[in-house]
Amino acid sequence: MAVRHFLRLSDLSPAEARQVIARAMALRARPDPAFRPFVGKTLAMIFTKNSTRTRVSFEAGMARFGGHALFLHAGTTQLGRDEPIADTAKVLSRMCDAIMIRNDSQADQQELATHSRVPVVNGLSDSHHPCQLLADMQCWFEHRGDPAGKVAAWIGDGNNVCHSWIEAARLFGFTLRIAAPRGYEPDAAIVAAAGGHAVLVDHAGAAADGADLVVTDTWTSMGQEAETAKRLAAFSGYQVDRALMARAKKDAVFMHCLPAHRGEEVSADVIDGPQSVVWDEAENRLWAQMALLEFLFGVH
Ligand code: CP
Ligand code: NVA
Repeated sequence: MAVRHFLRLSDLSPAEARQVIARAMALRARPDPAFRPFVGKTLAMIFTKNSTRTRVSFEAGMARFGGHALFLHAGTTQLGRDEPIADTAKVLSRMCDAIMIRNDSQADQQELATHSRVPVVNGLSDSHHPCQLLADMQCWFEHRGDPAGKVAAWIGDGNNVCHSWIEAARLFGFTLRIAAPRGYEPDAAIVAAAGGHAVLVDHAGAAADGADLVVTDTWTSMGQEAETAKRLAAFSGYQVDRALMARAKKDAVFMHCLPAHRGEEVSADVIDGPQSVVWDEAENRLWAQMALLEFLFGVH
């Protein structure tokens, strides 16, 4: 059987995505320390960018299931001395059972997958953050039930996380209203592929009105630090604050992939307030990725 990779959320079918989420919810609800399906398995994790949640959730998840995770800071491997990514894939995949990579380039991740004998998982690229969306969908299901037919509001940058939210909208059957400043909209092809499940609106209020969920992310992603001042100016008016949350449904939840910048993309009273589910969302990185790895290893 062909090796399955997870480079973007749409690598899963709607049925597979729901299966992984259901399994993640079961793992969280009924953790079983004696269940160790990954004994003898190693996950190689390549990072060219910082991480707290992604690294720790993969590492802790592998440990819980009896396996091992190998943290590889790309700069201290031979990748940092220009060994081709294809050669790296061939070598790592003869020693390890899966490879996770966080870097800037989706194309390089694709190249890694093309030359790998084992599943390759995107732990964030400049284009997508699919593992985040597994955790986010799990969190939405757990707090409010099936997202199908509901409305989520994306406020802010049309970035990697936004792209994965757009793919989630089609996969899980909800509508994503996106409010992004001009010049910071998501990729048009990704929006088009969502076939009506992703809709661009022209201000934050129009996205939030009557929404079931409000979500945002940093205005300056990793690698964009030189643009910080310009971005701060461009995104004024796009903060998720109490006034914006008041336009959404009374029982709307607030999500953020973290790390957050209080006073920029979100006010402290929203992220630390009663509608915020960000800590459950962060915890779900653990359960969702354990379920994903089970799926990719074909052990569940
Ligand atoms: N949300 C997320 O991916 O967090 P880290 O950058 O800490 O991994
Ligand atoms: N959009 C952010 C997400 C961090 C988890 C970034 O790429 O830096």
